Amino acid sequence: MKAEQGVAIRPMHIRDIRFVHALEQSTFGKSFGESMLYEEIINNQAAHYALMTNDNERIGYIGLRRLDKGAEITTIALREEDRGKGFGTVLLKYGETVCKRWGVLTLTLEVRPSNKVAHAFYKRHGFQVSATRKNYYNDGEDAYLMTKQLGGEHDDRTRNRKQL
Ligand SMILES: CC(C)(COP(=O)(O)OP(=O)(O)OC[C@H]1O[C@@H](n2cnc3c(N)ncnc32)[C@H](O)[C@@H]1OP(=O)(O)O)[C@@H](O)C(=O)NCCC(=O)NCCS
Repeated sequence: MKAEQGVAIRPMHIRDIRFVHALEQSTFGKSFGESMLYEEIINNQAAHYALMTNDNERIGYIGLRRLDKGAEITTIALREEDRGKGFGTVLLKYGETVCKRWGVLTLTLEVRPSNKVAHAFYKRHGFQVSATRKNYYNDGEDAYLMTKQLGGEHDDRTRNRKQL
């Protein structure tokens, strides 16, 4: 099945935190933690977190943060049973749209070299490895810093808008 009708993406709410926390734990073996997710959603105006639903059921999410120059994808994940169906592509395009509205032209992320699916996913969507961060993760694995230049119009109307 491919991503299609019934799929929606909306700003994350406090009531979504439990789902996101559980998905982070099952996917990455760790989570930002519920209180940090709360902070990011409610108080961090440089962050944007969005939830994906399919027929009103939560299936995934993406987190973005504005930096001095550019923005980064802090996290992105789908439920295991919903991977490989195109939903991640829809989420990533949504993230790029948010960045363009911010007036951001450079999007970065870190990914484990061992995460072959994610690495290939980003590469297919125009990200390139721009650096290797040694011993980046707690278990000692390096991280690839991947970068994509976004073309797009600067839109001041949404630049400082609070996300919730
Ligand atoms: C990375 C991730 C967000 C991508 O989302 P997705 O919905 O699976 O992505 P898509 O279906 O749009 O594209 C995935 C591509 O990888 C392929 N693929 C191969 N094996 C796969 C697997 N085991 N799981 C998912 N995709 C797989 C898909 O067929 C697809 O290729 P195609 O477009 O050429 O058909 C998702 O796989 C995920 O949640 N992974 C676990 C969390 C994670 O690693 N996040 C990134 C941390 S940096």
